[in-house]
Amino acid sequence: MFFEDVKIRRSVRTFDGKELNDEVINDLKEYAKTIVNPYNIPVEFVFLNKDDHKLSSPVLSGEKEYISAKVKKGQNADVAYGYSFEKMLMYAVSKGLGTVFIGGTLPRDKFEKASELKNDEIMPCMSPIGYAADKMGVKEVLMRKGVKADSRYNFSELFFKNDFETHLSDDEAEKLGVKKALEAVRLAPSAVNKQPWRAVVSDGGVHFYEKKDKGYDNGTYDVQKVDMGIALYHFENQCIEEGKQLKFEVANPGIAIPQNTEYIASYLF
Ligand SMILES: Cc1cc2nc3c(=O)[nH]c(=O)nc-3n(C[C@H](O)[C@H](O)[C@H](O)COP(=O)(O)O)c2cc1C
Repeated sequence: MFFEDVKIRRSVRTFDGKELNDEVINDLKEYAKTIVNPYNIPVEFVFLNKDDHKLSSPVLSGEKEYISAKVKKGQNADVAYGYSFEKMLMYAVSKGLGTVFIGGTLPRDKFEKASELKNDEIMPCMSPIGYAADKMGVKEVLMRKGVKADSRYNFSELFFKNDFETHLSDDEAEKLGVKKALEAVRLAPSAVNKQPWRAVVSDGGVHFYEKKDKGYDNGTYDVQKVDMGIALYHFENQCIEEGKQLKFEVANPGIAIPQNTEYIASYLF
């Protein structure tokens, strides 16, 4: 069940040091080919063996394989990227594999070269893929403490009803039929655990916004928009699992927004 996987998932940075067998890798590769996102922007996945490509990351240990992904530069490429990459990683989680988005702590040049990145493409992240070690390494424990990785904002700090003045309680979200889907957003991973996703629930649907922090937009792509794509995937997939019919739309409803906040997309019921 998707919701159970969302609850048990955590970033994995310490792996068991074993190669994945071909069957597992081929299954992931087949799944990667089926992934589409609501923007219909193609995201291409690349599987990279650590030893073949001489790759590493200062925050990882014991990993043997990576998945990177590339997308053509352009509007919403970063959001579409987050959606597709999270769909890939949650599939891996459903197979008992460990993953972690890595957008900062990687030798970027090496990963981009190994992924054969072209000038008109971006590769915001990669993830190691493998089985978690029995025990987290010291580095990983410290890293999780540093970003308070086990905590999230309260439900009513992230989600609103009709406008940004009216906080949404989880009881009310339950009545409106969106509690679990929004909870799946709240538990999602985000860069430096900043949790930039906000949502306003109105009569006809749910509108998603990015609460921007400084230093995540490099002019070509915005890492917090990758976070937004992750949130959209969690919301949509949970709704679909609950049998809800919903329509994706990018159409700003014109709700007054707080500072440093940007409208991203809506799901209409
Ligand atoms: C877009 C994105 C980029 C990330 N980049 C890094 C990174 O460069 N290094 C790292 O160790 N973790 C990275 N993370 C993992 C986050 O730190 C992690 O998801 C967050 O602290 C919450 O912890 P959890 O995933 O265990 O719930 C990234 C996560 C996302 C979504």
